Amino acid sequence: MAYIMNVAYIAGKYTLASVAVALVLLYSMLSVFQRLFFVPPLHYKKKIKRAIDGSGRLYKSKLGLKMASFRRRVILGSVDPSSYSVTSSNKNVIELAPIDVSNGDAFLEATSPKQVIDGSRKIIFGFFHPYCNAGGGGERVLWQAVHATLEASQNYIVAIYTGDKAEKEEILALVKQRFGLKFANERIVFIYLSKRYLVDGSYWKTWTLLGQAIGSVYLAFEAINTLPPDVFLDTMGYPFAYPLVYHLLKIPILSYTHFPIIQKEMLGKLSGQITKNSSLLGKVKLMVKYFYWQLFIIVYGFLGYYVDIPLCNGSWTFNHLNSIWWMLDGTRKDDNVVKLRVLYPPCSTEQLVDKDSIVKPKTTWNKQDWFVCLAQFRPEKRHSLILTEYSKFLSDATRPTKLVLIGSTRTEQDLKFVEELRALTKELKISENVEFVLDAPFETVKEYFAKCSYSINAMWNEHFGIAVVEAIAAGLIPINHASAGPLLDIAVPWDVKEKKQSSDESNKIGFFFKSPQDPDYVKTDYPGLATCFSEVMELSDAEKIAMSVRGKSCVLEKFSNETFESDWDKNLGKLVKYETYFRERKGKVEQVY
Ligand SMILES: *[C@@H]1O[C@H](CO)[C@@H](O)[C@H](O)[C@H]1NC(C)=O
Ligand SMILES: *[C@@H]1O[C@H](CO)[C@@H](O)[C@H](O)[C@H]1NC(C)=O
Ligand SMILES: *[C@@H]1O[C@H](CO)[C@@H](O)[C@H](O)[C@H]1NC(C)=O
Repeated sequence: MAYIMNVAYIAGKYTLASVAVALVLLYSMLSVFQRLFFVPPLHYKKKIKRAIDGSGRLYKSKLGLKMASFRRRVILGSVDPSSYSVTSSNKNVIELAPIDVSNGDAFLEATSPKQVIDGSRKIIFGFFHPYCNAGGGGERVLWQAVHATLEASQNYIVAIYTGDKAEKEEILALVKQRFGLKFANERIVFIYLSKRYLVDGSYWKTWTLLGQAIGSVYLAFEAINTLPPDVFLDTMGYPFAYPLVYHLLKIPILSYTHFPIIQKEMLGKLSGQITKNSSLLGKVKLMVKYFYWQLFIIVYGFLGYYVDIPLCNGSWTFNHLNSIWWMLDGTRKDDNVVKLRVLYPPCSTEQLVDKDSIVKPKTTWNKQDWFVCLAQFRPEKRHSLILTEYSKFLSDATRPTKLVLIGSTRTEQDLKFVEELRALTKELKISENVEFVLDAPFETVKEYFAKCSYSINAMWNEHFGIAVVEAIAAGLIPINHASAGPLLDIAVPWDVKEKKQSSDESNKIGFFFKSPQDPDYVKTDYPGLATCFSEVMELSDAEKIAMSVRGKSCVLEKFSNETFESDWDKNLGKLVKYETYFRERKGKVEQVY
């Protein structure tokens, strides 16, 4: 017995010792990585000089593992960083910009390492956004953020890590056309990522979450191994990349989340399915899935630990992410508390709101008693609920009214859906009071907004609701379903003088309803939609004007791109402070490169 104890003791001791040694080794390895990625060889300037005097090119075959650190030096020294963009065809060669070649020694000098506190030190902001050319809502945020970053200082360079093959001029032209944004193009460097398919959901037929997670780690490695940035900004939501970036580079991380990769709600639904499933094999399969997701949520939660500035796009995402990212709380880095915050996407409301009408409101309400619903013709927008409630309201309405349904139809199915709705209006005998407007251009929508007094959004749990913002911006009185975006973010009571959200119900800017048709319906204080129709009809002109002014002020203050940019600037300031903080804690050599 004693013998066994002895062996166990020795085994235990050696295991502990080797774990300790491994940890120490790993730790020292980590600063090896910083040296590898950031610090070029001692005589790097000689090599660049030779390229300046010779072919103007630096080849990977000569630079080897140090290629990325060379690329970093020339980008930091260049007066035209964008010309060092990496495409699918020039991965293995750095071609010096003609202007840098002609600047010769001045360019060479500018590639020198700089002290941390040097005011002329440049900072590379690495935006990890593999789909930067997609032109959607996520890209709107990306490009407005890039715009704000470049405006903030001449010393800031933006690197965009993307899997788009398009030429940089083409991408920037599209950004200008779609989002009306123009910026200092010479300070944007595109870094092409060749294996974007690894983060594409369709590539991983099974175990998609896991596959995408691993894919994003690989892609992030490709990114930093091509150009290591000074700060890492993830604007698409690839949290599995954070530990890699943090441990290899020791740089701060900003994360902007549009959509949590997994939500706790999904577990609840799954456990419901397990109980219902009749076959044993089915039950077991679902249970495996349950544990897989559960594990994913725990790991996802842990990854929040690596984020220095966690941002998300609205209350819906905030509530989900905040319940998952348990590692966020606490005081880190110079007593700054790391907390999840909402930064609403820019919605250009400054272009929609007539500012004069807020300062000098009209004295009469010269709009029709019309209701408008701007929503795609799809079942989840619940047009049929609107129609049935409208017919209830019509049966004892005192004044003539009209309901306008405006929306786009993208598929055959949508068109069929419209036919069903038309049939329903006949059945309800309200077809004279209902007008359908299909696939109208935004100009036409604006004309209707100018005529109608009230807008409706009946969708349950709409994450945001850009159409709601647009209607309020145009001065309509909104009636919304009391859930998610419209309730928490958009149609909030508003104090015009203070320019902020108010807790006073007399400052409300619209009406909310619930319906027994809601999937989560329980008896509430919220009225039904028909009641809301009657309530808005009873408002006096003065009440309507005041409400509409509050609404316009609200969406102007909350969702303009100006607001986005000034909030972004505040976060950028913090990020730059963290950058200094992290750098000062690096080794004497690493901190100046
Ligand atoms: C946040 O992003 C999600 C996913 O793209 C979207 O559904 C939601 O509407 C967005 N929220 C806001 C406030 O834009
Ligand atoms: C039971 O689970 C299996 C495996 O996930 C699934 O294919 C099947 O449709 C489920 N059956 C029922 C009745 O839910
Ligand atoms: C806001 O965005 C619009 C285009 O969407 C642009 O024309 C305008 O200049 C932007 N304003 C600011 C302050 O960035």
